[in-house]
Amino acid sequence: KLDKKILVTGGLGYIGSHTCIELINNGFNVSIIDNLVNSDITSLKSIEKITGVKITFYRVDLTDYKKIKNKLENENFDVVIHFAALKSVRESIKFPEKYMDNNIGSLKNILKFMKYKNIKKLLFSSSCTVYGKPDSLPVTEESIFKKPESPYAETKQISEKLIDEFSNKFKQNSISLRYFNPVGAHHSGLIGEKPKGKPENLVPYITETAIGLRKSLSVFGSDYKTKDGTPVRDYIHIVDLANAHVAAVIRLINYKSKKYYEVFNIGTGKGHSVLEVINAFKKVNKVDINYKIVGRRKGDIDIIFSDNTLSRKTLNWKPKKTIEDMVESSWRWQKNINR
Ligand code: NAD
Ligand code: WQD
Repeated sequence: KLDKKILVTGGLGYIGSHTCIELINNGFNVSIIDNLVNSDITSLKSIEKITGVKITFYRVDLTDYKKIKNKLENENFDVVIHFAALKSVRESIKFPEKYMDNNIGSLKNILKFMKYKNIKKLLFSSSCTVYGKPDSLPVTEESIFKKPESPYAETKQISEKLIDEFSNKFKQNSISLRYFNPVGAHHSGLIGEKPKGKPENLVPYITETAIGLRKSLSVFGSDYKTKDGTPVRDYIHIVDLANAHVAAVIRLINYKSKKYYEVFNIGTGKGHSVLEVINAFKKVNKVDINYKIVGRRKGDIDIIFSDNTLSRKTLNWKPKKTIEDMVESSWRWQKNINR
């Protein structure tokens, strides 16, 4: 048993909640901080139900340093996993300052708190969005940061630079995982992605359309230079992604790297078009989806998928789930929350 304590910010969100389960399954002790701005307390109950473990939860806004310090003063942690952030690309274009304040402000407070408490290991949620529109495919970790397509993307580029500087300056070990497109849900059907309001991402829009909450799915463009004209992405099952965090935490704990800051792509290395995802969903779940092709969505790129060689080799991790597993588990979750 790995008797290590992990502080998970944003641990009640979509990726955080799945990661807490895998951490607990691997013997880690987990505490969560979240302000519930994009999640609700039922996901805490679900994590506890799935794992049978009681979790320490702090309802704290991470932009409030005093409160973080007050609540966590007497706690000790081996590793911090920092998930908490706002993630709506569309909203970030409307309210860029809100995204800078929340995402960069929270990160700075976390770094300050880690320094204060002498916590030396950080795992950060980055995104394939840092690559912008890549020059060549698949994207490796060496690919440069192109122009960010949104203020949200910009917060991830800035966050990575801040963590890189901080880690080298204070000799702290940090890892950023650059997630590609996380989809799917826990096999129990008890936790999954539950967007507040109208979904922005493809798979939640598909499941909400299939169950009748939405009339029709809009497919944003079919004139891209891809296999069928619709954009191609690297969809990764949420449980595979959660397990990449376990692998990265283990690397941080047994650190052998000479570099204070490391980054890893977390994707399957395979690209699927929008129409392929829709068709897989229909075939696997035997339900129809009403969709129509509309114009392009601003800021979308035509194609991106990962080279995951480095994470496979260095983290000793590999994705195990197929696109069929992804659409099947998403549908099970959607049916469960709409019963
Ligand atoms: P999510 O919205 O489901 O989870 C984020 C959690 O952070 C939520 O529970 C929210 O309440 C909390 N939070 C936000 N601001 C906070 C604050 N100031 N104080 C305390 N809690 C706060 O999102 P997710 O999909 O689980 O994403 C987790 C992380 O992964 C984010 O950093 C996101 O940018 C990143 N990411 C997500 C995706 C994706 O497609 N889901 C892809 C790449 C990277
Ligand atoms: C996937 C594809 C859409 C909705 C976003 C962020 C990225 C990362 C992951 C956080 C695209 C198409 C979608 C719909 C559609 N998040 N689509 N109809 O844009 O690849 O990535 O989430 O870091 O930073 O930008 O994901 O799920 O929104 O879209 O046709 O109603 O589905 O055009 O081609 P995206 P997505």
